Amino acid sequence: MASNKKLLILAGDGIGPEGIAQARRVLEWMSKRRAVSFGVSEDLVGGAAFEAHGTPLTDKTMDAAMQADAVLFGAVGGPKWDNVARHLRPEAALLRLRKDMDLFANLRPAKVFPALAGASTLKEDIVSGLDIMIVRELTSGVYFGKPRGIEKLPDGRRRGVDTQVYTSDEIERVARVSFELARKRQGKVCSSEKSNVMESGVLWRQVVTETHKHYPDVALSHMLADACGMQLVRNPKQFDVIVTDNLFGDLLSDVASMLTGSIGMLPSASLGPADPTGRRRALYEPVHGSAPDIAGKGLANPIASILSLAMMLRYSFDMGDDADLVEAAVGKVLDGGLRTADIMQPGKAKVSTSVMGDAILKELDKLAA
Ligand code: IPM
Ligand code: MG
Repeated sequence: MASNKKLLILAGDGIGPEGIAQARRVLEWMSKRRAVSFGVSEDLVGGAAFEAHGTPLTDKTMDAAMQADAVLFGAVGGPKWDNVARHLRPEAALLRLRKDMDLFANLRPAKVFPALAGASTLKEDIVSGLDIMIVRELTSGVYFGKPRGIEKLPDGRRRGVDTQVYTSDEIERVARVSFELARKRQGKVCSSEKSNVMESGVLWRQVVTETHKHYPDVALSHMLADACGMQLVRNPKQFDVIVTDNLFGDLLSDVASMLTGSIGMLPSASLGPADPTGRRRALYEPVHGSAPDIAGKGLANPIASILSLAMMLRYSFDMGDDADLVEAAVGKVLDGGLRTADIMQPGKAKVSTSVMGDAILKELDKLAA
């Protein structure tokens, strides 16, 4: 069968390849059991690419990412490359992929599986049943604003500059994604910025409010980003969709991740603008990063990578039922008491990365029988 689903896998560094290996098994299961075929290619990224090619992302890999229907990304970075020049650091690969693919909408769900409600550092009743979606703007703001740099002043002091900048179209497009997502969820968007101190925050609030006029069926609220961080740990269930800028989204999504018990549980999707046929460039990635301290030990939780694959099925390939199936299999395995180290709870069975993968495949078999 000719494949119309071109998938590029960039597993990267640290625990990236370990999680992605398990996601690949789920992908193979999908091809076999659901009669879909993916044209899969694989390439190096981050530190791994730097070692092989002297750059964390070759132009050839960048081209392949531009041509792909979806990119499945592991993680990049590690202490080995701490002293490499910024533009050659592993993280530079990720930033370039985001920018060149125009992946402006970063979807970071924080959903608590019932079996893990007790694994959060927060009280169970605060997090049980939690299901929020953080939509982080990903291609602008202080991550990319100019001017930036460290300059030497005539008197010998140094001055570091970053620029927070947003244009109205950049805010509008991410706001639209948020309102559209909210329509398929609980119908609520909370927009978060610092309009009390930042001009870009004032503009953010104005544009989100103007855009909201096209979505009168969605309830919009605004919250300053510091208060939003506080409310996320005080009463997270008040939120449905949170839309915010690149930097606040980076922070707030890490906070939200811990509500679910472990950052090892969280997937993400980064989407570009839709072309006239409705196709979007997209990259799917676990939120956890490369975790060099546990890499290579079979300790990593593969669930974030497997749930990222599920998001890919849902958002890139219109395979929502199959995404549901993968999510259900993960839920069943957790109900059954298996835990990787990061989500270990008293009385549960601690398992390795690959045993967790085995169990999820077995549940898929059962669910599909
Ligand atoms: C993330 C990460 C990245 C970011 C780093 C690795 C560049 O923290 O995806 O949240 O800051 O965006
Ligand atoms: Mg981050």
